[in-house]
Amino acid sequence: MSTLVAAAAGAAVLVASPASGAASTLAAAAQQSGRYFGTAVAANKLSDSTYVGILNREFDMVTAENEMKMDATEPSQGQFSYGNADRIVNQARNQGKRVRGHALAWHSQQPGWMQNMSGTALRNAMLNHVTQVASYYRGKIYAWDVVNEAFADGSSGGRRDSNLQRTGNDWIEAAFRAARAADPGAKLCYNDYNTDNWSHAKTQGVYRMVQDFKSRGVPIDCVGFQAHFNSGNPVPSNYHTTLQNFANLGVDVQITELDIEGSGSTQAQQYQGVVQACLSVTRCTGITVWGIRDTDSWRASGTPLLFDGSGNKKAAYTSVLNVLNNASSTVPTTPTSTTDPTGPTTTTTPQNPGGCTATYREGQKWNDRFNGEVTVSGTNNWVVTVTVSSPQRIIATWNTTATWPSANVMVARPNGNGNTFGFTVQHGGNWNWPSVSCQVG
Ligand code: XIL
Repeated sequence: MSTLVAAAAGAAVLVASPASGAASTLAAAAQQSGRYFGTAVAANKLSDSTYVGILNREFDMVTAENEMKMDATEPSQGQFSYGNADRIVNQARNQGKRVRGHALAWHSQQPGWMQNMSGTALRNAMLNHVTQVASYYRGKIYAWDVVNEAFADGSSGGRRDSNLQRTGNDWIEAAFRAARAADPGAKLCYNDYNTDNWSHAKTQGVYRMVQDFKSRGVPIDCVGFQAHFNSGNPVPSNYHTTLQNFANLGVDVQITELDIEGSGSTQAQQYQGVVQACLSVTRCTGITVWGIRDTDSWRASGTPLLFDGSGNKKAAYTSVLNVLNNASSTVPTTPTSTTDPTGPTTTTTPQNPGGCTATYREGQKWNDRFNGEVTVSGTNNWVVTVTVSSPQRIIATWNTTATWPSANVMVARPNGNGNTFGFTVQHGGNWNWPSVSCQVG
């Protein structure tokens, strides 16, 4: 049985054969599971035919790399400038692509006039900027990065110091409320970097803010993970856990600026891990890479993108395309559960006195397989038995170390990635939920 199971620390490894009729572009492959695949676009490259050829062929979501930032759209206070941003938005929409707006409020790339402002004047200028820009693009933006990079790096888990932060801790929620009023149809995202590793203080700080916003009704719909990786900041093994935990707060999650320095199969594997982490979280709605060719990248020397300088597909491209095809060969279907078609999406086992509780939650579903997740409470030293019913088979796991007493029984233990683990069931037409039970180990 163990040969059927590919388990890797923290990452879901799906064991599936390539779909027949596999899609041949990133966008088409992502669309099979209802997701998008986007790229950052620079206005001054829209006259480069190689660049535009790849853009039009491969991507179905576009982010302006710099042209919608505060310094570009409001170079003088109260005077708005949308020429380059419009070039990108119009090119995308004419090609049937959607647009992520980036970014309404940020400590960086502020126009000179704003950099020296403070207090109420700055707060009002920021809110006016959010209102004006989001209103101008109302109806054309799939999701706005309303606030970018507002948390500090390091161990504090708190806010980054900035002129905006010094206007008061509520500046972020004020920006979100202004954006909602200006464009009620756009999803509103908080976007940041170094928030990929679940155990990092910065990740926890952003998580607590989103949790607080949801509990108080502050309008937030999504969290963006920039995902700029290199050898000093590698893809964390618990990435899936991070994305799932944020999604469980009731927001979409998106990979918004993906690039991974490196080359060859090492780079390809890291890309695969990031895409896989997104695919295994139902509410991870799409992935954007931060540029098209390596030479287009803001960190070109690290060759961090999917196409080389000549526009050729790299190994990383092929691995991303294959993962998208393997993991999503059909649009997810609603299960025809024989037990509980309209019931809740979680079930909780009773807790023995002094024992633990295992809660099963439905994950993404495909026509041949589905994901499930189990969250344990009451102990960090758990032994959870997961039993599937014939002809179901568990074909992948994440965030757990598993043993297999028999073909349909998995015994799961912690592997250092917290108290939520997951697995993929190849169901063979049987949509019944697995049964789970918990013991203290
Ligand atoms: C970068 C652009 O790619 C560069 O061209 C520019 O000089 C600086 O900004 N986080 C973000 C992006 O949210 O806006 C940044 O983009 C990269 C880091």
